[in-house]
Amino acid sequence: MPFLSFSTARKIFAGLGGLYVATVVLLTIPYFQTHTLFLHAVKLPFFANFDVPELYGLAPNKTINLRIETADNESLGAWFVLSDSFYHSLPTIPSQPSDLLATALNARPTILFFHGNAATRALGARIQHYTGYSSRLAANVLVIDYRGFADSTGTPTQPGLARDARAAWNWLIKNGASADQILIMGHSLGTGVSSLLAAELSDEGISPRGLVLLSPFSSITKLLETYSIFGVVPLIKPLAMVPWVAKMVLSMLVHTFETDTLVPRIKGPVLIAHAGKPFLGFSLLDLISMAENDWEIPYSHSQALFDAFLDPLLPTAPQLPANAAAFTQEEWSLFMDRVAKRKDLREGIVTTVELRNFGTVHEFTESGRKVTFVHTRAGGHDYLGIQEGLHDIIGRNFGFFGH
Ligand SMILES: *[C@@H]1O[C@H](CO)[C@@H](O)[C@H](O)[C@H]1NC(C)=O
Ligand SMILES: *[C@@H]1O[C@H](CO)[C@@H](O)[C@H](O)[C@H]1NC(C)=O
Repeated sequence: MPFLSFSTARKIFAGLGGLYVATVVLLTIPYFQTHTLFLHAVKLPFFANFDVPELYGLAPNKTINLRIETADNESLGAWFVLSDSFYHSLPTIPSQPSDLLATALNARPTILFFHGNAATRALGARIQHYTGYSSRLAANVLVIDYRGFADSTGTPTQPGLARDARAAWNWLIKNGASADQILIMGHSLGTGVSSLLAAELSDEGISPRGLVLLSPFSSITKLLETYSIFGVVPLIKPLAMVPWVAKMVLSMLVHTFETDTLVPRIKGPVLIAHAGKPFLGFSLLDLISMAENDWEIPYSHSQALFDAFLDPLLPTAPQLPANAAAFTQEEWSLFMDRVAKRKDLREGIVTTVELRNFGTVHEFTESGRKVTFVHTRAGGHDYLGIQEGLHDIIGRNFGFFGH
């Protein structure tokens, strides 16, 4: 008697297939899409007391719990974390830290941090980010919970999150920060939000200190094309067998966060960081290198963004004609020439430095601004931003160390 009879196996597969179809259909409904993308209903840690940041590991009165009002009257919960160098310069624990805001904002640069989807600003992994930035970079940190998250009002949408980001920026300026003291930083979903803010500010001729994108996606559409549920069940790939179905499902996306199309609008220095080895699809190699992978967003998204920043400096990429077989010998060699020329030019523009055991840093400078791609070996998706090696590159690139 076999362990699993044929008809049982068939039923299981039919069941899984049905579940898959149901999942895809649910995701075309905006309500479910919103909840799946933002996961804002997952309010981890549960019943957090945002008034007492000390409960989550931050030093007494180093963090101010505050509310920020948006242009469309949502009220956002936020934390302002004092830089350690400022906090330690005080003779005692401050009894009214909110009175020190303006002084703190002028004493040290501030990281305006936009977290990823799900959970709240009190999540342990996020606290480790504020601790790293306020100590190793001696930066102040402002972190908001978007509308619909944590103790903030409202429901998340893409334009809504962009307004939240702008409200946080305006709050810093209103409290005495200057634009060049503010480094905009996003993680995961927050990279889409950060890029929207950076593009909007650039359009207005406002120059923040820079933009940092941790574990970004190039766009939600492109992410979904490669996304696998639990890193195993591909979401869109099976649909691609019927291209119009895949196209239709992707066209029903409500919140697209197309960072790649924002790239030409974003001025000023940019640092992109991503952990992990190349994502090769579901293979034995991936299993072996598991510990080094970003399992949620493959690093090819960061490469694509870096390339998008680099693209204007290179001649247009030669295109293969639809019918490559019709290419004459001459046309082929012309094509190959242009490919080689583009590659040479790229290598002349981009410097690549291998930091042994840590990762690789690709960098180019264009009309005075640096664009950097740090490809780390470790950190995964959620702990990339606490890598000391990454803090140091951020510190040097954005002038946090005073030289
Ligand atoms: C926000 O609230 C203010 C004052 O209560 C009101 O004047 C304004 O019209 C509101 N704006 C929006 C977009 O609801
Ligand atoms: C922390 O600040 C609060 C007011 O914001 C104050 O009542 C309290 O005494 C301060 N704690 C310490 C240890 O100074």
